[in-house]
Amino acid sequence: MDSSIWVERHRPKTFDEMVGQKEIVKRIKAFVGHKNVPNMLFAGPAGVGKTTIALVIARELYGDSWRENFLELNASDDRGIDVVRNTIKDFARTKSIGDAPFKIILLDESDSLTRDAQQALRRTMEQYSNSCRFIFSVNYSSKIIDPIQSRCSVFRFRPLEKNDVREIITNIAKHEKLRVEEKSVYALFELCGGDVRRLGNILQSCASVDKHITSELIYKVASYADPKEVRDILSLAIKGEFIKSRDLLLNVMLRDGLSGIDMIKQIQKEIWNLQIDDIKKLSMTERCGEIEFRMVEGSDEFLQMEGLIASFCKK
Ligand SMILES: Nc1ncnc2c1ncn2[C@@H]1O[C@H](COP(=O)(O)OP(=O)(O)O)[C@@H](O)[C@H]1O
Ligand SMILES: [Mg+2]
Repeated sequence: MDSSIWVERHRPKTFDEMVGQKEIVKRIKAFVGHKNVPNMLFAGPAGVGKTTIALVIARELYGDSWRENFLELNASDDRGIDVVRNTIKDFARTKSIGDAPFKIILLDESDSLTRDAQQALRRTMEQYSNSCRFIFSVNYSSKIIDPIQSRCSVFRFRPLEKNDVREIITNIAKHEKLRVEEKSVYALFELCGGDVRRLGNILQSCASVDKHITSELIYKVASYADPKEVRDILSLAIKGEFIKSRDLLLNVMLRDGLSGIDMIKQIQKEIWNLQIDDIKKLSMTERCGEIEFRMVEGSDEFLQMEGLIASFCKK
């Protein structure tokens, strides 16, 4: 069996294979169609297609010789100013291959570039403005200095929407021969939001256990409690049923191997799905914050969780 990483195997290779990000794909496709690509800044959360679309641009522009015309520097490479500038200079000096008049340099995950490095890069960008185009990808555009931003077209990527996530799940399920229940689509969306990398990794972990992807399997693999059970724990506590609430909580934590920190994040989330007044929700949320802090500081997680439940029982 092919043991490669699914998110790599299912990475879109053309604009049409990209799911969601419609406006961005449309604008970039038009640039590429005219073989006239500006410097670009891709901003947005993880796993939404920033690196992917940069690679698609290279393939579409250069065809089979894309690797010769495309340089990718990412956060795991040495990012000292000199290294960056020398690597870029070596690459930029030679002519592009094929009919595109420029090469492309992707500075992936640029959030960590220091301001000094960015100042130096800005000069490098100017120096090679005829022969190279730069693509920066970041989580936050504010991490990039203004003089670079003003030289770039800025594209803001959004987390994928539920229907997009569903489409991606369906694609992967077809290729990997998975059976995915409808409930599982909700579970995956709940867990991953629009982060497709996380989605792919969870699906792959599940599939190594069973090709039948149930929501139970997903929660287990992702160290996540079933949200319904979390709501049950909270409802019992609010009704004043301390013992029942605590027993269910301990049961879920031990059965699913969840830490107090795993649990409290979910409790905090589910508080907002309860039918209680907002004042109560606020005080419960506040309490979660305190308890989480104590656990991070090293306090016994079972004691702390019990204390939390007890405080929810009080009116
Ligand atoms: N818009 C998308 N359509 C289809 N697959 C996507 C999309 N965005 C991300 N993916 C999947 O998630 C993986 C990670 O995406 P990537 O582009 O590297 O994310 P990032 O935005 O963090 O650079 C890709 O290999 C691909 O499998
Ligand atoms: Mg990336």
